[in-house]
Amino acid sequence: MNVAMLKLKTIDLTPRIGTEIQSDVDTLLSGKYAAEIRELLEQRGVLIFRELGLTEEQQKVFSNTLGKPMQQNGKVVLNISLDKGLNGALAAYLEGSFYWHIDLSTADVPSRASLLTARKLSQTGGDTLFANTYAAWDDLPESKKKEIENLRVVHTFENSQRVFKPNPTYAELLEWQEKKPKTHPLVWTHQSGRKSLVLGMTASHVEGMSLEEGRLLLCWLNEWASQPQFVYTHKWKVGDLLIWDNTGCMHRVEPYPFDSGRLMTRTTLEGEERVA
Ligand code: OGA
Ligand code: MN
Repeated sequence: MNVAMLKLKTIDLTPRIGTEIQSDVDTLLSGKYAAEIRELLEQRGVLIFRELGLTEEQQKVFSNTLGKPMQQNGKVVLNISLDKGLNGALAAYLEGSFYWHIDLSTADVPSRASLLTARKLSQTGGDTLFANTYAAWDDLPESKKKEIENLRVVHTFENSQRVFKPNPTYAELLEWQEKKPKTHPLVWTHQSGRKSLVLGMTASHVEGMSLEEGRLLLCWLNEWASQPQFVYTHKWKVGDLLIWDNTGCMHRVEPYPFDSGRLMTRTTLEGEERVA
């Protein structure tokens, strides 16, 4: 698509990632720019709609124009909060969102994108960071690309929980291991031909390498991919809506107090392409 033909008003927020879209609710819900928005999402990793203030119902409608909203825990609109009062059992796992991750990266087909609306903010912390893993791949030295292009990485839910709970009980460990490990190529060659890195805290080890060697490599790559030139940091206002390309970005949130009342609502678009 010819980006010059876009009628939406956009502002790039950093050179490599993050574009603000200035539009209004009716225009966005009409779906008339859905194709342009999807294209921008793939090119820019994360899209920002400042203080759009969508209701939950409108967030569903908007999501529907962009893809296929999926159910999680039986709901299309998911509360994202660390507060057990607001988020029940899910709150226990979400501390993992403080560390770089790709959503649903232990699934066969990771989700396409997520849409997040800020409902209530924390007084401290709570900025969300996004790292463009297409750009991170593109900028790797050729020698490094050769070294890693055919590697495969085992992703486990357990790994993502150990990050913040290094001494689980037996019962916790059993529960974590109910989610089966998933092996993905380290370098995702998308149907578009573009390549991105598949990293984040579910990445446990590299197939065919010793644990130590694989973990060193993953650590190096996670540091590489989260360098400032690949990252956009969002400082939220209530009503902001962000969409991130979950197939070409990883993200994390700056730690915030569990009882801060911070509440976001998320809709998630089904994956359209397996990691290959
Ligand atoms: C998520 C997530 C970050 C945030 O919903 O998947 O990581 O800022 N959220 O709450
Ligand atoms: Mn997430």
